[in-house]
Amino acid sequence: MSEHMTADDHAAATAPLVLVAYASKNGGTAEIAWWIGETLTAEGVDAQVRTAREVDDLSCYSAVVLGSGVYAGRWLREAVRFARRHRDPLRRVPVWLFSSGPLDPSAREGDLPAVPGAVKVGDLVDAREHRTFGGRLVPGARGFMARMILRQGRGGDYRDRERITAWARDLAREAVSSPRRL
Ligand SMILES: Cc1cc2nc3c(=O)[nH]c(=O)nc-3n(C[C@H](O)[C@H](O)[C@H](O)COP(=O)(O)O)c2cc1C
Repeated sequence: MSEHMTADDHAAATAPLVLVAYASKNGGTAEIAWWIGETLTAEGVDAQVRTAREVDDLSCYSAVVLGSGVYAGRWLREAVRFARRHRDPLRRVPVWLFSSGPLDPSAREGDLPAVPGAVKVGDLVDAREHRTFGGRLVPGARGFMARMILRQGRGGDYRDRERITAWARDLAREAVSSPRRL
């Protein structure tokens, strides 16, 4: 601690600050990221929610949550790029990953494995954990395939907010034990 710093200054400068970064094509994953951010804040842990694309500098964060919607078995490019671009700083802080995908209740019933691309990202950044949450596909979604799935009646909202919030509460507890370093 610098000699000009009060104990309060030191506490503020080292308090945990969590980045929740996401890639989302149709908004479902974005909303999950906001739910996670809200829960962290409600648990007393400061959090910033950003698109993976807009983040340039990770130096102010003590932990990172990174999530992506899953399309054709893959994470969105933006999320994978984020992990590659920030690999070194990410390896120095706790990182948790989540995917939002299945348009059925399967993600509610157990821990679904990550798609191979998300496993690779996890290895790259030495992530602590990965969770798969259900997905959402509702009218207005972009893309020919999305409209086709909707026409076949296979859309819906399978995101389980309770499960997401419960996970974010666990993250808040872990984030507190990994404060920022001066
Ligand atoms: C064209 C298309 C392909 C999809 N492929 C998969 C897939 O391979 N695996 C999966 O779990 N979910 C798949 N989904 C479901 C999406 O992951 C789900 O809608 C998710 O919530 C999308 O996130 P977003 O709204 O943030 O873009 C697909 C959806 C669409 C429209």
